[in-house]
Amino acid sequence: MAGTTGDLGHRIALALLDRGAQVRALVRPGNTKPEVASLREQGTEIVEVNFNDPAALTRACAGAACVVSALSGLRNVIVDAQTHLLDAAVAAGVPRFIPSDFAIDFTKLLAGSNRNLDLRREFGRHLDRMPIQATSILNGMFMDLLTGQAPVVLFKLRRILYWGSADQPLDFTTIANTAEYTAAAALDPTTPRYLRVAGEVATVRDLQAAASAATGQPFRRLRAGGLWVLKLMIKITRRLVPAPKEVFPPWQGMQYLHNMFTGLPKLETLDNDRYPDIQWTKVREVLAAR
Ligand SMILES: NC(=O)c1ccc[n+]([C@@H]2O[C@H](COP(=O)([O-])OP(=O)(O)OC[C@H]3O[C@@H](n4cnc5c(N)ncnc54)[C@H](OP(=O)(O)O)[C@@H]3O)[C@@H](O)[C@H]2O)c1
Repeated sequence: MAGTTGDLGHRIALALLDRGAQVRALVRPGNTKPEVASLREQGTEIVEVNFNDPAALTRACAGAACVVSALSGLRNVIVDAQTHLLDAAVAAGVPRFIPSDFAIDFTKLLAGSNRNLDLRREFGRHLDRMPIQATSILNGMFMDLLTGQAPVVLFKLRRILYWGSADQPLDFTTIANTAEYTAAAALDPTTPRYLRVAGEVATVRDLQAAASAATGQPFRRLRAGGLWVLKLMIKITRRLVPAPKEVFPPWQGMQYLHNMFTGLPKLETLDNDRYPDIQWTKVREVLAAR
């Protein structure tokens, strides 16, 4: 596994251990994050490896049944580091690879509409040419973002902020559920190229009902305009605060919301039932627990 010191990656590693798997965590040399010590204590083999050293990375992948990536970053990570990891997995004869996709269905998006997801499509094209069985997990937006980063549920104003239609279905899955599902998929040699899951599919009206039920206070809807308004806001924000080195600058989060409200990246058929032991957390529960 790569990315085990990150939020999602750490949880995937724990979920794999829970399922009785042997986990080897590939961490960058000198990483002293507490996740490294905690995973080691729980039986994970920790291998410090330079992701730019193909021979060392190949040795680190040797003997694995599946390489799981939960890396996060821009081109140097999603395209470059993941390509090094993929090449090493192929060189080591690893049969399966799970890339760090974990998003809305970017296979249906137009190029240029979401910088971070363009990078995943680019890496995916490379992955599809390699002699390895690949599986991407598509989970919509992390539901946990509804209580923080994503400016949709405005708790103080008791409003649900949106653009476009209040009836557009949107996919949400908690980070914990995404991790559990990824662990189950990593241990399942029969997975297809894509697996699509959503803890809950909710429209803005559903979010309004969930927020009202979770807080016991009535929420109303606040339509900020059509999707063209959001597109204009993205352009202006990107011009004013470009933050080219940030993985999730405000304009990128806005691109994500714009994509979701267009309905284009809506997950079509869901594979939630593939691993019946997973209990899907609902939006109301996440909002109530904030
Ligand atoms: N669907 C959604 O709403 C949503 C929301 C957020 C994230 N995600 C996705 O979930 C995945 C994991 O994100 P996260 O939030 O868990 O990430 P995170 O907490 O930022 O962790 C990133 C991980 O990548 C590693 N890493 C970064 N650059 C690296 C490099 N050059 N070489 C090797 N390792 C490197 C980090 O290792 P170090 O400890 O060495 O830095 C860390 O383990 C990503 O694909 C992300 O886009 C999806």
